[in-house]
Amino acid sequence: MSPSTSHVRVRREEHLWWVGLDRPAKHNALDQAMVDELDEVLAEARREPSILVVHSTTPGVFAAGADIAELRERGADSALLAINAGLFERLEAHRWPTMALIDGPALGGGCELALACDFRLASPNAVFAQPELSLGILAGAGANWRLPQLVGIGTARRMLYTGARLTAAEALAAGLVEEVTDDLEARGRALAGVIAKRSWRALELTKLALRSQRPATTTFDITAQALLFDGEDKHTRMTAFLERRSR
Ligand code: COA
Repeated sequence: MSPSTSHVRVRREEHLWWVGLDRPAKHNALDQAMVDELDEVLAEARREPSILVVHSTTPGVFAAGADIAELRERGADSALLAINAGLFERLEAHRWPTMALIDGPALGGGCELALACDFRLASPNAVFAQPELSLGILAGAGANWRLPQLVGIGTARRMLYTGARLTAAEALAAGLVEEVTDDLEARGRALAGVIAKRSWRALELTKLALRSQRPATTTFDITAQALLFDGEDKHTRMTAFLERRSR
């Protein structure tokens, strides 16, 4: 695999895989090509012990969710393919710990990407929201159960029903992030350094043990998304987003 692919930059450093989202023109919105690239990285990284650090190559940005231009054209069949949901399941199932370094908006699928990691460190620029319902779809890539597991059902409802945006400080108070720091890279490296001194095998088995705490799967969400993907409401709302931006 090439160490650098078009919208995902990978940098290896001893036990660390830095996985950089690199689509600045679209605020790192995840399109199919990026999902495929991330899948390749995950498959490669499973071969030997490593801690994955997902970040943005662009300061002030994390990820603006699934690519709305692509989403608008996707129907029920694509929903059942579980493009983002599947990627995040595989990320969650990485054999060793993972973390997201969040230095800007983590919206929709961007927030779900961070939720699928074991740890989230945020800078003061971080913002978290699930705006899917305003686009006529649901948060089908894990937020419906990963979010309440982390922040409690009340905050999850508020974020999902209203699209409320949490600042970094609010996310810290809610338990959505472990830490808010001005030096994400250093703090991420320090946390990874502590973890990497431990037994990789014991880490892997502990991660498997914790997976038994998983309260749900995306099975229902994917099915519900298939229903919504074929709806006119979704098409109208996504067109409104794309046209508002192009004006
Ligand atoms: N999918 C596709 N394109 C996106 C996108 C997404 N999720 N988020 C941003 N973009 C694109 C915009 O369309 C724009 O493209 P253009 O320059 O070709 O017009 C470009 O990225 C820059 O975005 P813009 O909105 O102009 O920048 P901003 O700084 O004003 O706002 C955000 C940044 C991230 C706050 C805003 O783009 C946003 O709210 N994005 C959508 C978030 C969302 O609803 N995500 C959930 C998807 S499930």
